[in-house]
Amino acid sequence: MAKEINTIGVLTSGGDAPGMNAAIRAVVREALYKGKKVKGIKRGYAGLLNEEIVDMDAKSVSDTISRGGTILQTARCMEFVTEEGQQLGAEICRKHGIDAIVVIGGDGSFKGAQKLAALGINTIGLPGTIDLDIACTDYTIGFDTACNTAMEAIDKIRDTSTSHERCSVIEVMGRGAGYIALWCGIANGAEEILLPEKYDHDEQKLIGHIINARKLGKQHYIIINAEGIGDSQNMAKRIEAATGVETRATILGHMQRGGSPTCKDRVYATTMGAMAVDLLCEGKSNRVVGYKNGEFVDFDIDEALAMKKNIPDYMYGISQSLV
Ligand code: ADP
Ligand code: F6P
Repeated sequence: MAKEINTIGVLTSGGDAPGMNAAIRAVVREALYKGKKVKGIKRGYAGLLNEEIVDMDAKSVSDTISRGGTILQTARCMEFVTEEGQQLGAEICRKHGIDAIVVIGGDGSFKGAQKLAALGINTIGLPGTIDLDIACTDYTIGFDTACNTAMEAIDKIRDTSTSHERCSVIEVMGRGAGYIALWCGIANGAEEILLPEKYDHDEQKLIGHIINARKLGKQHYIIINAEGIGDSQNMAKRIEAATGVETRATILGHMQRGGSPTCKDRVYATTMGAMAVDLLCEGKSNRVVGYKNGEFVDFDIDEALAMKKNIPDYMYGISQSLV
């Protein structure tokens, strides 16, 4: 018999992402609509262990759908990786009458949710990360906004790069994954896209491409370099020394994590938030919501964590052929 859920907790964990507030709002409002109580847990698992738990009502999430960041704050918490930390987390949930938690974060956060589920607290994970590096889903909350933010910044860099006839190395976030780099590379029509999953580190070949482009009369040369490769400042110096083309590096950094979420991030995050509550009300636990082949779906967290994700071959191919 499925356990009846009366009170649902919600937390954000790991790096923040635009759209997390839309997801929190949907969790709160859908839970209230279904007659459940909601508690917000501040600062991820760290806040759970510190009992930073607040009652939430419909008004707690007013005026939040358009706001970047997360109103619940987020944190990384090493104590929760330990068995003692997880036991304490489950005990605190019981003490506060929380029978279920919606965890918005990445793979690391889902591992925490998996542990809580095993300790009797029903959990649902929502994929919240700008990196798109969660295997069970084609969409993660915040990726669309981060790509749009980076794309607009890169357009601006391209303007000045063209005026000065420079080469630009622009580093985008993504941790070990190259999805933001791939999407921006295509959206900005970059001459070169360096992804950790694909780059062969043949800098001589890259330098040859720049020299050739200059001979053909190209006034700029935009290289989108993924954070997982990094070293952009030194790369720019080496390129300038080898080609004689003035080269500047820009690391876009945390601006990619902020800002008002795009329409897509608001709508998808809202759908996922509501779905998390619906799954809990059906008695489901240890599940993660994803978006696959045009549909919102859910997977067992254990299966989701075992899945592998690759850079789509066709997209990568065109990023190379359309330069
Ligand atoms: P993300 O969720 O974006 O992948 P992290 O990997 O930093 O980010 O994980 C966020 C938090 O999730 C960690 O700080 C920790 O509290 C929790 N977490 C990560 N791995 C585990 C684990 N193996 N077991 C329990 N909790 C974990
Ligand atoms: O996971 C999101 C992300 O922004 C990554 O792209 C990046 O590598 C990391 O978080 C940065 O983390 P921090 O905010 O701790 O510097």
